[in-house]
Amino acid sequence: MKIILAEGDITEQSVDAIVNAANSSLMGGGGVDGAIHRRGGPEILEECRALRASRYGKGLPTGQAVATTAGRLPARWVIHTVGPVYSRSEDRSHLLASCYRESLHVADSLGAATVAFPAVSTGIYRWPMEDAARIALSAVRQAGSGVAQSAVREVRFVLFNPGAYAVFERALEQMG
Ligand code: APR
Repeated sequence: MKIILAEGDITEQSVDAIVNAANSSLMGGGGVDGAIHRRGGPEILEECRALRASRYGKGLPTGQAVATTAGRLPARWVIHTVGPVYSRSEDRSHLLASCYRESLHVADSLGAATVAFPAVSTGIYRWPMEDAARIALSAVRQAGSGVAQSAVREVRFVLFNPGAYAVFERALEQMG
């Protein structure tokens, strides 16, 4: 599995699957979520509604992932995952790592070979970028190795500004 860093808008990425930093309601929001629904069009929300009416009556739990169409985006699927809200008093790292692991699991079940991730939880959910980068990169790297390894060929982290890109670049270097 190749890990690539890019700076830009995730909705412009031509990949098999784009990961959305959603919330449990799956009904949209601001940040990445807002941009994906705006550019992808109403088909995405329609499928999200259907998921709420069937498998996820109580919403998508934190750390889990589910796929819908990508509507008009230049991708085949959107994989929605719910990151944890950052807490200084409680360690929720396992939930953030789970977002990456479960998203790749969904990507495998779809047969997606290329997947773009935003820095989940680092916006409205306030997770510090450095820590989030370390958790994201090691979760993805772990999923790409070992016996039950993911078949995803390329994971692209799409960072929204130069600062976030630099943090991910440093974290990747430090991992060796
Ligand atoms: N492309 C790539 N990255 C983006 C984009 C974009 N178009 N827009 C925002 N980002 C970056 C932010 O700068 C941040 O670093 O994505 C990261 C995640 O930020 P959020 O989208 O705010 O996601 P998160 O912190 O996980 O909060 C999720 O926000 O929009 C709501 O419905 C969503 O309630 C949920 C919450």
